[in-house]
Amino acid sequence: MAFLKIARLGHPVLRMKANPLSKEELARDGTQRLIDDMVQTMREARGVGLAATQVHELKRLFVMEVKTANPRYPEREELELTIVANPEIKTHSEETEEDWEGCLSIPDMRGVVPRYASLVLSGLDRKGNPLEIEASGFHARVIQHELDHLDGVVFLDRMSDLSTLTHLQEFEDFWLEGGE
Ligand code: NI
Repeated sequence: MAFLKIARLGHPVLRMKANPLSKEELARDGTQRLIDDMVQTMREARGVGLAATQVHELKRLFVMEVKTANPRYPEREELELTIVANPEIKTHSEETEEDWEGCLSIPDMRGVVPRYASLVLSGLDRKGNPLEIEASGFHARVIQHELDHLDGVVFLDRMSDLSTLTHLQEFEDFWLEGGE
């Protein structure tokens, strides 16, 4: 397995739209290796999700995993490793909620982003089997964040108020206390 180079804000690939994967393409060794490398890269970077576009691959594919031991998100509920190809939001709540987000492509920053509170996601697992995921809260937030990456959208674009944009150190100094 390999640690992949993560594109940072400003790299044009982060603004490109990824292409759907055929079942044949998904089954290919190269794609399966990419999935393994994305999982390893996400874990080493201590992310909770990683989209293929972030590692310079224009494929509609993302991975996500939340471990309670993740120091970047210490208070989040655990989420088992999930790999989704061709993700699509089937339904979502009308209700939105605001919470903090960060991104491995926008290092050292946090901002408050409104997202749908809950949703149902469909797609394919790494074997090409249909997948349906019901998610709410932080889980639904990660899904929306990663799906956005596949359409060339980053969390900054979703912020309704840029005044919450903060560096990580200042986040810890001024915003974390009394937050959730
Ligand atoms: Ni991101």
